[in-house]
This record gives sequence, structure tokens and C-alpha cells, in this order.
Amino acid sequence: MIYKNILITGGAGFVGSNLAVKLKEKYPQTEITALDNLKRRGSELNMKRLAAGGINFLYGDIRNPEDLESAGPVDLIIMCAAEAAVLAGVNSSPAYLLITNSTYAL
Ligand SMILES: NC(=O)c1ccc[n+]([C@@H]2O[C@H](COP(=O)([O-])OP(=O)(O)OC[C@H]3O[C@@H](n4cnc5c(N)ncnc54)[C@H](O)[C@@H]3O)[C@@H](O)[C@H]2O)c1
Repeated sequence: MIYKNILITGGAGFVGSNLAVKLKEKYPQTEITALDNLKRRGSELNMKRLAAGGINFLYGDIRNPEDLESAGPVDLIIMCAAEAAVLAGVNSSPAYLLITNSTYAL
């Protein structure tokens, strides 16, 4: 593994948390940080598994550059943060959906 520090956004979600745990299992020397704003209901339930797997957790929002910067220098960012609900924005403003899914604060 050439990467020493990996940041996974949406790291408490389905894809992000599984990726984080599996990468850490395979590359134990690599520091892996999962950043998530826990917007997705139930994503907080993955935090125990992340901690048990040696994953650093960072509460933050990809829409905020300071949250991303607080992860410190990283070699690789894997973007798994998303508003994945199919009904998001149907009966409410689509702003969160559009900004989270189409804009990265980098
Ligand atoms: N689940 C699948 O089978 C699958 C398959 C192919 C692609 N994908 C894609 O992978 C991505 C993640 O999907 P998922 O199933 O893990 O969804 P998920 O809802 O389980 O995970 C997304 C995570 O992003 C977090 N999040 C949302 N907005 C955020 C923000 N502004 N800042 C930080 N964190 C934020 C949520 O809290 C959640 O934990 C999506 O783009 C999805 O389309 C998923």
C-alpha cells in the first residue's frame, strides 16, 4: 500500500464504513479516517464497528472546507459521502441533495 493516510468521507455509511474496515484489515499500517456528519439515520450505529476496527472517526461535513482540513494531511481521499435517499428533495428543498452530491469542498 503506497498510501499512509486515507480519508474516507461518508465513512460511517454503508459503503464508506465497509471500505474503511476492510482496508484497515488488509493494510493495518495505514491510518484511516472516516469523516461523516451522521446525517443518514442509522449511520451512527457503524461507529462502534469503526472504533473496533481501528478507524479514526471525524465528525464533519464535506460542504465545509474546514472540516476536511481538520483531517490533516492525507495521501488519498475516497469520497463516499452522499445523500443517497431516492426521495430526498421531493417534498423539500433539493439544496442539500444537490450540494452534497455534486459539490466537494476541496
Ligand atoms: N449502497 C450501494 O449498494 C451502492 C452501490 C453503488 C454506489 N453507491 C454509492 O456510494 C455512495 C454511498 O452510498 P451508501 O449506500 O454508503 O449511502 P449511505 O447513506 O449509507 O452513506 C452515505 C454517508 O454519507 C454521510 N453524509 C451525507 N451527507 C454528508 C455530508 N454533507 N458530509 C459528510 N457526510 C455526509 C451520511 O451520514 C452517510 O453516513 C453513494 O454515492 C451511492 O450512490 C452505493
